[in-house]
Amino acid sequence: MFNQLIQWSNKNYSYLPWRAKRSAYNTLVSEIMLQQTTVSTVQNHFSRFISKYPTIQALAKISEDDILRDWKGLGYYRRARNLLRAAKTITTEFEGNIPRDFDLLKSIHGIGDYTANALLGIGLNQRAIALDANLERVLSRFYGIKEYKGPKLQQEIYRRFTKNEICNEIDTVGGRAYNEALMDLGRSVCKARSASCEICALNIECVALNEGNALGYPLMKEVVSQKQFDLKLLRVLVETEKSILVYKKSAKEWLSGQYELPTFVLSSEEENFKQYPHVKYDEFYLLPSFRTAITKYKIENYVIIMSEKEFKVFKDKPYESLSLEGVNMSTACEKTIAKLEE
Ligand code: ADE
Repeated sequence: MFNQLIQWSNKNYSYLPWRAKRSAYNTLVSEIMLQQTTVSTVQNHFSRFISKYPTIQALAKISEDDILRDWKGLGYYRRARNLLRAAKTITTEFEGNIPRDFDLLKSIHGIGDYTANALLGIGLNQRAIALDANLERVLSRFYGIKEYKGPKLQQEIYRRFTKNEICNEIDTVGGRAYNEALMDLGRSVCKARSASCEICALNIECVALNEGNALGYPLMKEVVSQKQFDLKLLRVLVETEKSILVYKKSAKEWLSGQYELPTFVLSSEEENFKQYPHVKYDEFYLLPSFRTAITKYKIENYVIIMSEKEFKVFKDKPYESLSLEGVNMSTACEKTIAKLEE
C-alpha cells in the first residue's frame, strides 16, 4: 500500500525542483520556504534562490536587506530572517555542517520542530516525521486519531510515532519518500475540505474512510471567525531631486526591513491602530485608490503625488531620498507606484 503511494508520488511530483538534489542545505531552504506558502509559489522561487546562494557559506555572508529582497513574493518575511540567522549560526558554530541531531538542530535560533524533523526525515532520510498541516490531517484520518487539530493532535501523533505504534512503514521506504508522499497526498487528494478517497493509495486501511467519515478528521473546535477591519491609508509619492522619499520599516512594524513610501491613516475602523500616523485629508475620496489586505485589515490605499514643499505639512519623521532601483519596497508601495503610472 505504501509502496503504491510512493510510486504515485514519484510519478506525479518528482519534477518539484527541490526534489532533484536533496542536500541538507537545499532542504533547509525549501522546507523553510514551504512553511505557510504553497508548493506552486515556492516552485517559482526556489531554484533562483539556490542558484544565487548555492551553499550555506554563500548564504551566511549576505545581509538581512539582501535576503529580504530575495524573499520577495514568498511572504512571511520572518522566515527569511530566521533562515539567514540559522545559516550564520551553522557557519560559525558548526563549521558549515548542518547538525544531524534533533536537539542540536533545535538549539539553532530559527529552527523549530517542523524544520528539524524535515531536515532529518526529508534531508537525511532518517526516521522522522515533519508534521505540517498535511501530515497532521492525513495521519489523523488514516489512523482515526480523535484529538483536536493543533498542538494536542501533534503531540498525540508524535507520542504514537515514538512508541512505534504508527508510521512504521517509514523504516522500509525511508524518511524522505515517506514524508513527501504523505505531503503530496494531503495537498492533492486528502484535502481539508474534500477527499478523493476513490483514487487514494491508502484507502483500504483508512480508518476515517472505513467509518464513512473522511472529512470528520481531524476534529475541529468551532472557529469564531476573526473580525475584519476597514482601513483607509494615504500613500504619498514625494518626488525629490534624487528620486523619492522612503523610510525603512522598523522591527516593531509590519513588514519590518522593507521600505515604504510615506504612509498615513485616513480612517480606521479599529480604534488604536498604530502602524502609521493619522492625518486629516478631506478630499481623499477623489484620489485614485486600490485595495490590499493584511492580517485582519481590508485596506483601501489612496495615492497622491506631492512636491517636497507640499509634503512638509505631513512630514512626521526623517525620510531617505532613494532612487527606486534595487530598493526592497513593500508590495503595497510597488502597487502605489504602478497605480500612479496607469
Ligand atoms: N510541504 C512541505 N514540504 C514539502 C515537500 N518537501 N514536498 C511537498 N510539499 C511540502
